[in-house]
Amino acid sequence: MKFFIDTANLDQIREANALGILDGVTTNPSLMAKEGIRGTEAIEHHYKTICELVDGDVSAEVLSTDFEGMVAEGKRLASLHSNIVVKVPMIKDGIKAIKWFSSNGIRTNCTLIFSAGQAILAAKAGASYVSPFIGRIDDSNWDGMELISQLSHIYTIQNFRTEVLAASIRSALHIVKAAEAGADICTCPLDSILGLLKHPLTDIGLAKFLEDAKKM
Ligand code: E4P
Repeated sequence: MKFFIDTANLDQIREANALGILDGVTTNPSLMAKEGIRGTEAIEHHYKTICELVDGDVSAEVLSTDFEGMVAEGKRLASLHSNIVVKVPMIKDGIKAIKWFSSNGIRTNCTLIFSAGQAILAAKAGASYVSPFIGRIDDSNWDGMELISQLSHIYTIQNFRTEVLAASIRSALHIVKAAEAGADICTCPLDSILGLLKHPLTDIGLAKFLEDAKKM
């Protein structure tokens, strides 16, 4: 399973990248706004900076919701750097745009996926990735991880090349469960990635080793 970080914060991207396990970055308008990035020039500059930091795919989301607007925006985003993957919302015009992008050699990440039906449509249109939002599904009292298992199974038996990118990750356990459910990629906040490091027996064991080392 590949690891992406789900943030537009450059320090967090650098910290995750320094671990040597980072395969890419996902952003969304909320994450960009959180970093105070405003205006087309600043937004495009920020995407380029992220692309220069990480050797991997960087999802950049279109803000238009009509076909022509999404195509124009996506073409411009894709021209910023070869690592850019155009993030397109799961709406009717989004599907048309994904089909246009895939026919024109531009990779896409279909975002805001909450059902298998949506993911089938995105795969048919040629999306490179689909992003099922695990945490938000769990918040609605449904089972987000069940959707990951379902998509992995459907894409395998139907030979779809679209990859399942587990998104809206809220914990280290979500990452483990997404791996178990067959996600191709997990995009995670830095805290959830660092959470994978933690185990009290590791801390206790290391303290004992270091103590005993003094007697060596
Ligand atoms: C996916 O690409 C989104 O950026 C993200 O995972 C959404 O997560 P949230 O539900 O924590 O906002």
